Amino acid sequence: MVKNKSEFGIIGLGVMGKSLSLNIADHGFYLSVYNRNENEELGVVENFIKSNQEYNNIQGFTDLQSFVNSLNQPRKLFLMVKAGVVVDKVIQKLIPLLHPGDIIIDGGNSHYNDTQKRYTDLKKHNIHFIGCGVSGGEEGARNGPSLMPGGNIESYNKVAPILESIAARDDLNNPCCHFIGNDGSGHFVKMIHNGIEYAEMQLIAELYAIMTTHMDNESISKIFSEWNSSDLSSYLLEITSEILIKKEGENYLLDSILDKAENKGTGSWSSKTALDLGLPNTLMTSSVFARYLSSLKDQRMIYANHLKLNQKAFKIPSIKQLENAYRFARIINHHQGFEIIKEASKLNTWSINLSELARIWTNGCIIRSQLMNKLAIIFKTNTSIFDDLSMFEQLEELEFSSKELIISALYNRVPLDTFSSAHNYWVAMTTKQLPANLIQAQRDYFGAHNYQRNDMDSGQWFHTNWKIK
Ligand code: 6PG
Repeated sequence: MVKNKSEFGIIGLGVMGKSLSLNIADHGFYLSVYNRNENEELGVVENFIKSNQEYNNIQGFTDLQSFVNSLNQPRKLFLMVKAGVVVDKVIQKLIPLLHPGDIIIDGGNSHYNDTQKRYTDLKKHNIHFIGCGVSGGEEGARNGPSLMPGGNIESYNKVAPILESIAARDDLNNPCCHFIGNDGSGHFVKMIHNGIEYAEMQLIAELYAIMTTHMDNESISKIFSEWNSSDLSSYLLEITSEILIKKEGENYLLDSILDKAENKGTGSWSSKTALDLGLPNTLMTSSVFARYLSSLKDQRMIYANHLKLNQKAFKIPSIKQLENAYRFARIINHHQGFEIIKEASKLNTWSINLSELARIWTNGCIIRSQLMNKLAIIFKTNTSIFDDLSMFEQLEELEFSSKELIISALYNRVPLDTFSSAHNYWVAMTTKQLPANLIQAQRDYFGAHNYQRNDMDSGQWFHTNWKIK
């Protein structure tokens, strides 16, 4: 039986909560854990304690008051509950039990606007609130996640020793945990992390789609695994090369998985945020739409059966070109992701350090990769990936392969929205004259919305009576 008061409390013993608890306990901290003891959650705490008896630094509770009383002050509580209303419900129950100066950390995938609101509401009670992005899934939570805490630096400093010791380590053995900025910034960057994650996953899926027109799973897996020992190395590529060859009896398990992609919302939140901020985050958006399209399976089956087209396999680019097209699209994906973070940071005066952010994403999280290591260096001297000359020149060189991939996808009738988004973004961003002059003229024609001229000083607006007759 543990006698000491606990240094840390975890609320919610789902998969992530359990893993994080054991991670904290492994680092020698005294820990209290709490979970409801009703309905389908009956016995959760008891079972957790029973199956982890070797730990003499964990106390389990099913009564919230006793749980709170078991914690040293200022109390430090980590919520590992489902994002959304559950977080508010738990906070409401906690408020009367806590004291000024206590700290609540929300480790779920909460929407950053909710986090900002909770931060402000709890401030009125003198309770600190830290919205902490946690990435790495179950394994990350158990062995070292990437942590993205946001709130205020004073309260962060009080929990830093624990968070930094349980986090993953970068190449130099520094913790993949860094104070991101004020109020909702931690959850904001986690949301964008997921937007980047969606696009990274979709790019691999689109490669798989085009490659399967000519190759079997073993060959694709081998190619991905080779790429994974190059600058293209990433956690997602690594797991994909394993997924491709996982067998169930004689067959590949992947071939039996229904092609309807699910989602829990963070990709769509990132996309909506980009739209609200007026930013062209086209890769995360197209990868969300690709998931939505996939889920229209019944309609797809009907229309596919109607199709009279006799689709012939068309040649696909060389492995080297596929590799280069993938390299190209990934850079654009990361560029777009970091651009939205930079803009949101300016808008909210969060002062997010992009290099540190890339650094804490080099390990523990789902989008960890060699590219991320490179970005941690690039952002030390640049605020944009495109401003780094070697990256810009690389994109210019890789453009040809990207084009080849898209052409072959069109002929093979393989939808390649996310690669196409990357390509079109690059082309548009490196084009002096876009047809937006025509859009402005149309708007002015039907709605007198005015336009600016390229032969006049900016800031002046004009309207024309366009009707010819
Ligand atoms: C992570 C993941 C994790 C999870 C997301 C995405 O960083 O550990 O992003 O948070 O995978 O919930 O899930 P969906 O694909 O279901 O939206």
